[in-house]
Amino acid sequence: MARRRQLYEGKAKILFEGPEPGTLVQYFKDDATAFNSQKKGTITGKGVLNNRISEYLMMRLMDIGVPTHFIRRLNMREQLIREVEIIPLEVVVRNVAAGSLSTRLGIQEGTRLPRSIIEYYYKNAALNHPLVCEEHITAFGWASTQDLDDIVALTLRINDFLSGLLLGVGITLVDFKVEFGRLYENDEMRIVLADEISPDNCRLWDSKTGEKMDKDRFRRDLGKVEEGYQEVARRLGILPEAGVRDLKGPEMMQ
Ligand SMILES: Nc1ncnc2c1ncn2[C@@H]1O[C@H](COP(=O)(O)OP(=O)(O)OP(=O)(O)O)[C@@H](O)[C@H]1O
Ligand SMILES: [Mg+2]
Repeated sequence: MARRRQLYEGKAKILFEGPEPGTLVQYFKDDATAFNSQKKGTITGKGVLNNRISEYLMMRLMDIGVPTHFIRRLNMREQLIREVEIIPLEVVVRNVAAGSLSTRLGIQEGTRLPRSIIEYYYKNAALNHPLVCEEHITAFGWASTQDLDDIVALTLRINDFLSGLLLGVGITLVDFKVEFGRLYENDEMRIVLADEISPDNCRLWDSKTGEKMDKDRFRRDLGKVEEGYQEVARRLGILPEAGVRDLKGPEMMQ
C-alpha cells in the first residue's frame, strides 16, 4: 500500500488522506461487526465487493442527479472520495418491516409497510446509535431544518431509484442506511450522499424466495455470507472478473 497518512479507522473502512486537498481515499476492509461491535468476524472478499457495489450504485445515483462524495474507484479495495463534514446521523429508510422495527414495534418481519418510513439514529457508538427525532436533531444542532429537508428529499429519491434498480435484478430493497455530509464549494454548501451503499448497510432479499443476501446472513449465522454479497454483485453485473477468491492486495494509488 502506498505510504500515506491514515486519518481514521472504522469498523468496515479506513480513511486515508487523498492526493489533493479536499479528497480522501476510502479503503474497504473484510472486517464485519454487528450489534454495535459485540459480534466480530471477517467476510472474505467483502471489501472488494462493497467497494465495487458502492461505486456502481453511487454512479447510477449520480446519473439521475443525486450528488455524492464519490469521485472514482482506484483499485480493488479503494476509492477516491470528496471529504465532507459528516452529519452525525444514520438515515434509515424502510420499505418492509425487519430488524429493530419488527422487534421494537412488534410488526412481523416481511410485512410491506404502508409507505416508506425514514428514521434517524444519532451516530454515537458510545450511546449505541440511539433512535432520535427531528426535534433532537435541530435542537442539538446536528442538522438544520433546511439540511433535513434536503436529506429527506435525497433519501426518498435514493430509495425510489434503488428500489427499482434492484427489483429489476430480482432483489427487494427491504431497508438501508445512508450517511450524508456537507460539501463546501465556492462559498456554497451542499448536502451530498457519503459513506457507502452496500450489503453491509442494506437488507436485500431475493424477491421470489425471500432469501437474504446481506449482512443479516452474518448477524444471524445463516451461513453462505460471502455468497450473498457475491450474488448481489453478480446480479448487478459487476462481479470482479478475477473473482473475489483471487484478490491481490491493494495497488498503488493512481
Ligand atoms: N466523504 C467522507 N468524508 C469524511 N468522512 C466520511 C466520508 N464518507 C464516510 N465517512 C466516514 O468514514 C467512516 C467510515 O468508516 P466505517 O464505516 O468503518 O466507520 P464505522 O465503524 O461504521 O464507524 P462510524 O461510522 O460510527 O464512525 C465513517 O465514520 C463515515 O462517517
Ligand atoms: Mg460505517
